[in-house]
Amino acid sequence: MYMVEEYENASKSQYCDALEIIEEFEKEMSEMKGKCIDIGCGPGDVTKRLILPRLSSDAVLVGADISKPMIDHAKQKYQDEKRLSFLQLDIEATVLPNEEIGQFSNALSFYCFHWCQNTWRAFENVYKLLRPGGKALIMFLAWNNGFDAYVKLHENPRYKPYMQDADRYIPFFQRYKDSRAALRKMLEGIGFEILHCSKREKSFVYENMQILKNHTIAVNPFISRIPDDLRQEFEDAIVREIASRKILFPNKTNNDQEEYSILDRYHILVAYIKKPIATC
Ligand SMILES: C[S@@+](CC[C@H](N)C(=O)[O-])C[C@H]1O[C@@H](n2cnc3c(N)ncnc32)[C@H](O)[C@@H]1O
Repeated sequence: MYMVEEYENASKSQYCDALEIIEEFEKEMSEMKGKCIDIGCGPGDVTKRLILPRLSSDAVLVGADISKPMIDHAKQKYQDEKRLSFLQLDIEATVLPNEEIGQFSNALSFYCFHWCQNTWRAFENVYKLLRPGGKALIMFLAWNNGFDAYVKLHENPRYKPYMQDADRYIPFFQRYKDSRAALRKMLEGIGFEILHCSKREKSFVYENMQILKNHTIAVNPFISRIPDDLRQEFEDAIVREIASRKILFPNKTNNDQEEYSILDRYHILVAYIKKPIATC
């Protein structure tokens, strides 16, 4: 799904958005104690640099991710950090490992839940991981018209064999006009108390096509399936399709060459939720 190095080098927009939410919830995070989990931690940079320093000093943090390469990389990179450990875990799993259930005082997650096809189960699993009274701060993508490029390329017979499951990678809440209301309903249905739930309109400027391309490749679920002889063509096609849905404006490079910056507009959802202490 993700390529570790590519993601590390091309995830500035995700890092900036995580930082913004983390700064907004600084007080709530400083009260997070005990065993905490960062779900979908990726290479571990947001986990180590942005989350860990803001938690209470007696908190320990487990970075969890479905991807073994991500977890192996994070373990190696942050092996000296005593309060940090990493665990391979699928937050959408039908059955969670028994030893993890009810073990966490708090959960955090940035830019992971839009990858889940069964979003209900993913949130239900957060509920199961938390101890009663535990809180979770979760941010993920609600809508980005760049995903329409998956549908378009899937229609092309050259790429179709490698994109049979293209629909699966379109964020669950992209189909809802009022994604905030849909998320609230889901969270309440699972049993969470909602402390905050919002949809935010965001934007990010990719300074040139190459930067957009690097980002696109880093988070594209199909590229690793494409045969070598088709790969360059597919990469160019997906970037072209995405860029055609964005606002482009010309700028000049240092050596006076004309190129285009790309304005990306998208929506994120932010939920701060609590597992009630007692249910009758
Ligand atoms: C965009 S990265 C976000 C990484 C990091 N949280 C950040 O903000 O930079 C999304 C991560 O979610 C992970 N992921 C996707 N589906 C998952 C699942 N079902 N369970 C756990 N992790 C998952 C991916 O492997 C990837 O590392």
